[in-house]
Amino acid sequence: MQYQSIFRPNLFQDQTILVTGGGTGIGRVIAHELASLGGNLIIASRKEQSLEKTCREISDAGGRCSWHTVNIRQEEDVEKLIEEIVNAHGGLDMLVNNAGGQFPSPAEHIKQKGWHAVIETNLTGTFNVTRAVFNKAMVKKGGSIVNIVAEIRNGFPGMAHTGAARAGVVNLTKTLAVEWASRGVRINSIAPGVIDGHGLSQYDPAFMKSYIDSVRAAIPAKRLGTESEIAAAVTFLLSPAAAYITGETIRVDGGWSLWHKPWKLDDHNLSNSFDGFSADDETDKT
Ligand code: ADE
Repeated sequence: MQYQSIFRPNLFQDQTILVTGGGTGIGRVIAHELASLGGNLIIASRKEQSLEKTCREISDAGGRCSWHTVNIRQEEDVEKLIEEIVNAHGGLDMLVNNAGGQFPSPAEHIKQKGWHAVIETNLTGTFNVTRAVFNKAMVKKGGSIVNIVAEIRNGFPGMAHTGAARAGVVNLTKTLAVEWASRGVRINSIAPGVIDGHGLSQYDPAFMKSYIDSVRAAIPAKRLGTESEIAAAVTFLLSPAAAYITGETIRVDGGWSLWHKPWKLDDHNLSNSFDGFSADDETDKT
């Protein structure tokens, strides 16, 4: 199962690269592509089984891969992991913050526990890993970081928690691009649209069926994206071809965000208009 990258062989020869959430879905394909280009891959998540399987796939294809379990919400866990990686590999050149998770729910039904869980994984977890990698590896030798966020041009109706968390990461990307430029660190984000693959299989099938049908109709490309199309964009941003790009978020969405209406608008008459000259207006009666 040799991954066929569009980029040149050995592009990442001898580069040590950490991909969080690298055992499944988009993270798995990113790990395959970077390893196929000579990268020394380290994948990390909470799930030993998928990490072990993906690493074996990469090794069987002739790539270099090792894995660690980590909960990115736990600061000490993360610090320990990055310390171990830097000690074992003599540094860390690249980081892909891909680990994340959320669940569909109208905002009014999201409990504080669920809200915190999504914010802590997608925003705080990403920050924990990024800060540790900077302090322990990139502060001296520079490096390149890519965050996987989500397409949130028009907010994220139906998943307010992850929309807020991803917007936080988009902003963090800009801040760190400025703060860490003098250390030779570039940091960018990729915002995937609707991607066919493991990610979608995590949601309730009944919800997905209606969601996917309506989504596909609204994508100018008239299809969902592939995990490989996200991996290719990540590879580009990590590579020297993107040497002059930092603080950016690139959408990979088949034009979806330019066209789609992500929320069904219920009919209502609750939007009161305002006209400063109207005799009926409350302000005229005072
Ligand atoms: N993938 C999803 N949630 C995660 C977490 N908290 N830590 C590591 N990988 C994850």
